[in-house]
Amino acid sequence: MRCAARGGLLVLAAALLFVGGDAAAQARRLNVVCSVQIEWCELISRAYQNATGVRMAVIHRSSIDALSMLLAERQKPRTDVWFGGTGDPHLQAAEQGLTLEYRSPVFDDLQPWAQAQARRGAYRTVGLYTGVLGIAYSPEQLRRLGGPPPRCWRDLLQPRFERQVMMGNPTSSGTGYLILSALTQLFGEDAAIGYMKGLHRNIAQYSHGGRGSIENMVRGEVAVAIGFLHDAITARERGARLEFVLPCEGTPAEIGSLSLIAGAANPHEAVQFYEWALSPEAQLLARQASAFQWPSNRQVPVDPRMPPAEDLEKVIAYDHLRFGSSEVRKRLLTRWINEVNVPDNE
Ligand code: G6P
Repeated sequence: MRCAARGGLLVLAAALLFVGGDAAAQARRLNVVCSVQIEWCELISRAYQNATGVRMAVIHRSSIDALSMLLAERQKPRTDVWFGGTGDPHLQAAEQGLTLEYRSPVFDDLQPWAQAQARRGAYRTVGLYTGVLGIAYSPEQLRRLGGPPPRCWRDLLQPRFERQVMMGNPTSSGTGYLILSALTQLFGEDAAIGYMKGLHRNIAQYSHGGRGSIENMVRGEVAVAIGFLHDAITARERGARLEFVLPCEGTPAEIGSLSLIAGAANPHEAVQFYEWALSPEAQLLARQASAFQWPSNRQVPVDPRMPPAEDLEKVIAYDHLRFGSSEVRKRLLTRWINEVNVPDNE
């Protein structure tokens, strides 16, 4: 471990000693902001409280809303741990010192991509799960529109998809931001903004959180949704008829992340929960909530419903550092707000 990380650990250890004396006398509490599927958030809350007796308050927020909340409360944080959500906002939180430097004793048991996320964020975050972005469609709705299924990002610009596409709003949804940033990497910034302008004409609605796009498609509102493969698998498990493609130009994988909040009121409880969240037992629980992301702990077997890694050759080497920077985020979102999501472009 680097010296800086060791220094951070010492500070944390001192903080733990300090609160340790009081802890026994007080009710054990923990405040978590949770940016995964709500069913998974509810399950971790129940399971962790039952196992430890800790009184947990879990609030569900999209990744970008969680980041905004942490920024707003940075002088007096009310949150102890941020569980899940796409990796870019966790890196932006790390860059701004909103999260705490920490290296878990089980760090070496984590997948290389989870460790890489920690190194990128100067150990102020770590990979919790990964999932691949792509295009989901309803074969039934598509039959009505006519034509072949979409195979590429560019196919979504076709006029037959007018008001037939949904995706997360990049200003509120980490998934939406990942779409914007991945297209920037694939096509270049100006071409990506041009693409988003064209796509905007086919968008029926931007969902607040990323998962809403697939859920609304399943309800029959649109024919096509941009979202994560694992959310499509969940919908299929629940009986929905949908297909999923990895776009021909390439597509990114998110590194869903886990971060401890700097200056939190319950640092001791926060670390205990963080360690639990990285354990194989806790990561296996996700499947009981029909959450099929690939887990970061290498001891957790891959779910047979997920495709093997060799089927994922369309996944690109997404530039997490570039798009995890606050400056790039601000520029891309400003352009999206001013050039894409405007009345002139409807
Ligand atoms: C869903 C996905 C997660 C993802 C999260 C991002 O819950 O299953 O894998 O990290 O959305 O949420 P957001 O609402 O910020 O797009």
